[in-house]
Amino acid sequence: MIEVSNLHKSFGDVEVLKGISTTFEKGKTNLIIGQSGSGKTVFLKCLLGLFNYEKGSIAYDGKIFAKLTEDEKRNIRAEIGMVFQGSALFDSMTIAENVMFPLKMFTKQSKSEMEDRVNFVLKRVNLETAHNKMPSEASGGMQKRVAIARAIVNNPKYLFCDEPNSGLDPKTAIVIDNLIQEITDEYQITTVINSHDMNSVMEIGEKIVFLRNGLKAWEGSNKTIFKTDNEVVTDFVYSSNLFKKVRKMYIEENE
Ligand SMILES: Nc1ncnc2c1ncn2[C@@H]1O[C@H](COP(=O)(O)OP(=O)(O)OP(=O)(O)O)[C@@H](O)[C@H]1O
Ligand SMILES: [Mg+2]
Repeated sequence: MIEVSNLHKSFGDVEVLKGISTTFEKGKTNLIIGQSGSGKTVFLKCLLGLFNYEKGSIAYDGKIFAKLTEDEKRNIRAEIGMVFQGSALFDSMTIAENVMFPLKMFTKQSKSEMEDRVNFVLKRVNLETAHNKMPSEASGGMQKRVAIARAIVNNPKYLFCDEPNSGLDPKTAIVIDNLIQEITDEYQITTVINSHDMNSVMEIGEKIVFLRNGLKAWEGSNKTIFKTDNEVVTDFVYSSNLFKKVRKMYIEENE
C-alpha cells in the first residue's frame, strides 16, 4: 500500500500539485485520471522518487520515504517497476536483453538465473518466441508487453505505468490493461496507472483518483464513477460523445 499525504510540488513559482492525499491499495489497479496537464505524470514521478516535493509525504508500506536513509531509499527503488509512456525500450538491445537489463542493474544473479527469469516473464506476457527480435521489429502492443515484462522482472512490490496503452488500438489496449490487472492480482503488486482513457477506467478502475488542476477532485471506483453528480467528473466521463449517447439512451429508456 502507498499512502500519500498533502503532497505539494512546484516548478519555480508554479504549483503543479496543490496538496494531494490518497492511498493506493495492494493487489489493485489504482488509476490516476484527469485531463492533459492536470498533473498525473508529475504525481507519478513523485511516487517514483524522480521528483522532490516541497511538502507532504509518501509512505511505502508504512515507510515514509523522506525519512529513510540512502540505503533504505535504494531498497525501495529496487522494489519499483515502471512502464514509461511510449515503452522506452533500448533500441540497440534485443527484447531479451531489454528485459534482463534491470536484473543486471539491481541483482547479483548468475547468467543462467537471469536467463531463467527472463524466460519466465516473457512467457508470462505471451512473448516466448520473441527473445532475439529487436524492438523495431515488434508491434506497438508487443513493445508494451516487453515493457511490462521488464517492469516486473525484479518482482516489484510497486508498479507504475504512465499511459500504458496510449497509441494502441482499442482492442490491444484492453489486452494490455487486462494483462496489467492480472499480474497485479497474481503477484499482489500495488499498481498505479496514469490514464485519460475511459475504456481503461471501465476495465480496470478498481480504485480511481481524479485529478484536476493539481488537486484531487474525486475518488472512487469504476462501480461508482457513473453514479456521482460531481460536475467535474461527469464533464470528464461524458466528454466522449459515445458515453453521452449511451447515457441519453439510458435516461430515455428509464423514463
Ligand atoms: N519539468 C517540469 N518543469 C516545469 N513544469 C512542468 C514540468 N513537468 C511538468 N510541468 C507542468 O506541470 C503540469 C502538469 O503536467 P503533467 O505532465 O503532470 O500533466 P499530465 O496530467 O500528465 O498530462 P498528459 O495527460 O498530457 O500526460 C503542466 O502544466 C506542465 O507544464
Ligand atoms: Mg502525462
